[in-house]
Amino acid sequence: CLGMHWSSMMILLVLKCLSQIIFYCICFAFQMQTVTIIPGDGIGPEISTSVIKIFEAAKVPIQWEERNVTAIKGPGGKWMIPPEAKESMDKSKIGLKGPLKTPIAAGHPSMNLLLRKTFDLYANVRPCVSIEGYKTPYTDVDLVTIRENTEGEYSGIEHVIVDGVVQSIKLITEEASRRIAEYAFEYARNNQRNSVTAVHKANIMRMSDGLFLRKCREVAENFKDVKFTEMYLDTVCLNMVQDPTQFDVLVMPNLYGDILSDLCAGLIGGLGVTPSGNIGANGVAIFESVHGTAPDIAGMDLANPTALLLSAVMMLRHMGLHGHAKKIETACFDTIRDKKVLTKDLGGNSKCSEFTAEICRRVQDLD
Ligand code: NAI
Repeated sequence: CLGMHWSSMMILLVLKCLSQIIFYCICFAFQMQTVTIIPGDGIGPEISTSVIKIFEAAKVPIQWEERNVTAIKGPGGKWMIPPEAKESMDKSKIGLKGPLKTPIAAGHPSMNLLLRKTFDLYANVRPCVSIEGYKTPYTDVDLVTIRENTEGEYSGIEHVIVDGVVQSIKLITEEASRRIAEYAFEYARNNQRNSVTAVHKANIMRMSDGLFLRKCREVAENFKDVKFTEMYLDTVCLNMVQDPTQFDVLVMPNLYGDILSDLCAGLIGGLGVTPSGNIGANGVAIFESVHGTAPDIAGMDLANPTALLLSAVMMLRHMGLHGHAKKIETACFDTIRDKKVLTKDLGGNSKCSEFTAEICRRVQDLD
């Protein structure tokens, strides 16, 4: 009996190894790349499933490696992401992430912040493009915000000077300013965009924003084919709501980017339709939906997967899979323009699964 048990165990083991070998051979033959997928919390698993289904319909040559991220305490009591998630990202270099809940008083930092720090994701990129068929007061928005993601007001250096007086340090370094400026100009050049605007308050914060601006000016000298302008943050806000069509690529320090990128998302219909990518050092990049976990509708098949899907489209372009990106984007925008199958937040009454099935059908029709 024991002999039979061992032999069936051995057969199972051999079969498992064989299936792994066959899987890797198929990946190699079809030049499949691995992408780490972090479904996240709340509606995260529903919208991730939707993206996976649409990618399957579009025959995108990637394989997913699913990882969960919950904060764990490492040696010395330092908060970290689980090693399996870190190893997967170190290997694949590319991640797609759903929303993560940040429990109040959980005792650990936000997982989004931890991911940003772990992989030195220094540039947050958010293209804001008007979606035909989804009515907002603005019809012709087509701009990209590029936010410095690692320092500025978010350096976390705060202290009490005396009772009732606190000080928060805004840290701006030459290296991070040059790095984000270079990224913005390269992005403009590689994405057929004409101009880069540096957004700042160097008239007030002469040293910190002054340094940021100086680095932008220096980098601009090496990109003569891209027009460079500089504008005060307050002027940008005023002009943005008056006529967003005058802007193309905008680059800015952390806090300004946090606020202005949400304002721009509002112009095209909100966070439910806005994609986002976080670009890091050493080729690492994580693409994510920027809305939250929507606990009020989680598990009800009501979530709108558009933001995560468009983030995944951004990811495909980053990976050089332009044909697949275009096909999926077209199917998504056509579905929204047709208005027949829309989730509730987009003004319809379809389920997430129905919206997904409609995009899959259109993707297959485009073949
Ligand atoms: P939320 O974005 O989750 O929800 C705000 C409203 O928008 C809700 O009514 C929700 O149903 C709706 N909504 C959001 N995304 C939607 C989608 N894809 N389809 C349809 N409706 C959608 O913001 P809230 O309630 O402030 O945050 C909930 C949790 O999410 C918190 O734990 C927060 O920490 C986390 N969060 C995570 C983010 C991330 O991982 N990037 C960003 C923002 C919040």
